[in-house]
Amino acid sequence: MSWNLLLWLLALCALLALVVQLVCFLRADGDLTLLWAEWQGRRPEWELTDMVVWVTGASSGIGEELAYQLSKLGVSLVLSARRVHELERVKRRCLENGNLKGKDILILPLDLTNRSSHEMATKAVLQEFGKIDILVNNGGVSQRSLCVDTSVDVYKELIEVNYLGTVSLTKCVLPHMIERKQGKIVTVTSLLGVVCAPLSAGYCASKHALQGFFNTLRIELATYPGIIVSNICPGPVQSNIVKNALTEEVTKTTGSDADQSHKMTVSRCVQLMLISMANDLKEVWIADQPFLLMAYLWQYMPTWAWWITNKLGKKRIENFKNGVDADSSYFKIWKTKYQ
Ligand SMILES: NC(=O)c1ccc[n+]([C@@H]2O[C@H](COP(=O)([O-])OP(=O)(O)OC[C@H]3O[C@@H](n4cnc5c(N)ncnc54)[C@H](OP(=O)(O)O)[C@@H]3O)[C@@H](O)[C@H]2O)c1
Repeated sequence: MSWNLLLWLLALCALLALVVQLVCFLRADGDLTLLWAEWQGRRPEWELTDMVVWVTGASSGIGEELAYQLSKLGVSLVLSARRVHELERVKRRCLENGNLKGKDILILPLDLTNRSSHEMATKAVLQEFGKIDILVNNGGVSQRSLCVDTSVDVYKELIEVNYLGTVSLTKCVLPHMIERKQGKIVTVTSLLGVVCAPLSAGYCASKHALQGFFNTLRIELATYPGIIVSNICPGPVQSNIVKNALTEEVTKTTGSDADQSHKMTVSRCVQLMLISMANDLKEVWIADQPFLLMAYLWQYMPTWAWWITNKLGKKRIENFKNGVDADSSYFKIWKTKYQ
């Protein structure tokens, strides 16, 4: 075989590999490390059994689904949020569909903004189960309003719930994990803790703050390799987050019932979260395209990212003003695919 032919063959293989990678990326719904862990890594059913897991925001959406999937793994669960009747509903379904008994699930009402109650709540969990293996900081609230129209009280509330509430609870649980030299602190931030989008300035600020806080905490805990600090960054996921999102005033939510079917299902999001938890990944992005691509652009090609985000941002505001979900359609191709 001549050298020329060999070179041509090699170039063809390289091109083919590139095309395969591109197709895989276009179909990806998580960052590449996460999808690798899903394929080759440790399974949640091997790693997460017999653990005590405390989930905040367990009364709805991602936290609720997390409770269902965890209950099948045989963990002890602590379910927290403000609405006790919703937590009781979640507990009932966990018992119906999972492998747990009543004594394995503790309902612990918790308001993230009531920081003085967090120490007592932590003591209650330790009294009940004797340890906390995993704290999932999931409770949170979003925002849909333009900065120019939004009261500062809305920003204060977003910081109180999403950032300070989460930091406060983590600080209560941390001494216990340090004493045991082990534990996982899993925080559901958002892709909006990595990128930015209009209509959500206060939400983005709170989630960027969480990213900064937990990335720093991870470094401070380097001398405790058994304590894992993990940030989960989902893109749009089907839940009540938009319905409950704050608008211009702190007393006003969108109440929106706009179609969410174009978003990732909550069960897929939680499936990937569990993979991340089983493999101790430090930061994961869980999102369909084009949101995943945007995260990569923000990380590696910020100049392009700004240019594209400005274009997509206009569409996001237009969607919201037209009464459809802000992320319902950015491109014609996505519109045909999902509507
Ligand atoms: N869905 C998405 O597209 C998406 C994308 C990226 C990140 N996230 C993040 O995922 C997390 C879960 O959101 P979700 O999508 O599941 O929304 P969701 O269905 O609205 O659930 C939010 C949960 O947070 C709890 N919560 C709200 N305010 C609270 C407070 N002051 N104290 C205690 N708990 C509070 C709610 O319970 P109570 O009302 O009963 O207190 C509820 O259980 C949030 O941190 C959100 O920012 C969601």
